Amino acid sequence: MAAVTELGYIGIGVKSLDEWKDYAANVIGAEVVEAKEDGRCYVRLDEWHHRIVVEEDGTDDLAFMGLRVGGVEEFKEIQQQLEAAGINFTVGSAELAQERHVLELITLEDPSGNPLEIFHGPHLTPNLPFYPGRRRHGGFKTGNGGLGHMLIRETVGLDKTYEFYKLLGMRGGVEYQIPIPNQPKPFEILFMHCNERDHTLAFGLPSEKRINHMMLECESFDDLGLAQEIVEEKQVPVGMKFGKHSNDHMYSFYIVNPSGWMIELGWGGRPATHQSEYYNGDIYGHKPQ
Ligand SMILES: [Fe+2]
Repeated sequence: MAAVTELGYIGIGVKSLDEWKDYAANVIGAEVVEAKEDGRCYVRLDEWHHRIVVEEDGTDDLAFMGLRVGGVEEFKEIQQQLEAAGINFTVGSAELAQERHVLELITLEDPSGNPLEIFHGPHLTPNLPFYPGRRRHGGFKTGNGGLGHMLIRETVGLDKTYEFYKLLGMRGGVEYQIPIPNQPKPFEILFMHCNERDHTLAFGLPSEKRINHMMLECESFDDLGLAQEIVEEKQVPVGMKFGKHSNDHMYSFYIVNPSGWMIELGWGGRPATHQSEYYNGDIYGHKPQ
């Protein structure tokens, strides 16, 4: 069975490209690269051509996410798996592949309507080492764990969502059961992983937007302290204060971005556990602001 190996890239739609360029470079400390096309820029975190495409389309939301498979054979095999399960997809044109900077891709939607792309062969540019927009202590931890993780909207229930992502070779389950006062059933959050990162996608928080947050992991603990100072100085709103998650052990805080969703900057996440566990809350912190 072919399985996706990482979250490779995402595309986001924004109201203000200028605000996003400033946020990505000077708050998050990523690299912003101008695109040839008007109203677009690329955000780099490592040696990939880009990890995030930012498009000024007014939506302020997730436009697409790219999940990677190993190569040509896995790319064919995953299409067979989708066909066998009766899931519709479109083979991306050569023009779209070129635009995404991948060799080949298919496009589809998950059961909740989140736009998904499955690709192989990302464009790497190791001749252009990562050049952050501001001073930082270390790089972003991507590598085999992929770009990071995202908490995205689901509207069809956790069971259907689980079955769909299982079909793509992901593993996971409910990891948080959060008691709600005067409610018989706790609130549940589903986490799915596909590599050494504890989780790549999470579902279950009610959300107006497709995306609630994207987590980017820093190599150096000191980059969290530096980011906090920058956020305070620039008076960027913080969505959740510092804390440590029970599942991925990530020490992190959540910074609101110009589109109104959040970037979680983290450090020290543990690898995915391969047996299911659940928790009622975090180890400490992560208080909403
Ligand atoms: Fe997170």
